[in-house]
Amino acid sequence: MTTVIRSIVVGAVLFAAGAVMLSRAKAGSDEFFPPVTDPLTRQECGGCHMAFPAGLLPARSWQKVMGELDNHFGDDASVDAATARQINTYLMAHAADSAGNGGMHRWLRGVSAAAAPQRITELPKWVREHREVARSDWTRKEVASKANCVACHVDAERGYFEDD
Ligand code: HEC
Ligand code: HEC
Repeated sequence: MTTVIRSIVVGAVLFAAGAVMLSRAKAGSDEFFPPVTDPLTRQECGGCHMAFPAGLLPARSWQKVMGELDNHFGDDASVDAATARQINTYLMAHAADSAGNGGMHRWLRGVSAAAAPQRITELPKWVREHREVARSDWTRKEVASKANCVACHVDAERGYFEDD
């Protein structure tokens, strides 16, 4: 009887540990970055390029991006104040260093706490993940820019950036 109970308990503990490890693997991996779920952010930030997953930048970076939308990489991407506030709140809450995203800190390795890079493509981890990508791949006509993630990562809109 006690053996049965013990194996049930052990089984439950192992199952729980497995579930935790699985969710960690997903949240903390460099392959999956949860896509933007906020409809307003998807709409306003997905028109000129894909709506970049919030987990690809730290909160301080999003704040900087949102504070300079009138001069956004040479474009005017400004929105009204209420819209900006809502988008900012969403991005901050889901940023790489947000409370619910602890596992993704690895993505920020090498980024100094004082820096607020606006480009994902300038993060040391991003640069490292792409150092083996051939020059001829970047210059392909349909790629056009490093920021054009979807040109190479066909499932980027669904959050998947695994090597393929
Ligand atoms: C009017 C068009 C436009 C809109 C709207 C827009 N962006 Fe951009 N965004 C750009 C351009 C242009 C670039 C530079 C792309 C490049 O270098 O190829 C850029 C680049 C970025 C980058 C850096 C990508 C990288 O790593 O190089 C981030 C982050 C970004 N945008 C976030 C946002 C957010 C957040 C919003 C919504 C508030 C938004 N963008 C809305 C035009 C836009
Ligand atoms: C020219 C094609 C190309 C573009 C554009 C590109 N990537 Fe990649 N990316 C790759 C390739 C190829 C790899 C795999 C590199 C390797 O394994 O050596 C990769 C790897 C990655 C990884 C690591 C995946 C893993 O399995 O660990 C991430 C994350 C990633 N890219 C994100 C992005 C983001 C975000 C953008 C846009 C801002 C982007 N990439 C733009 C080609 C591209």
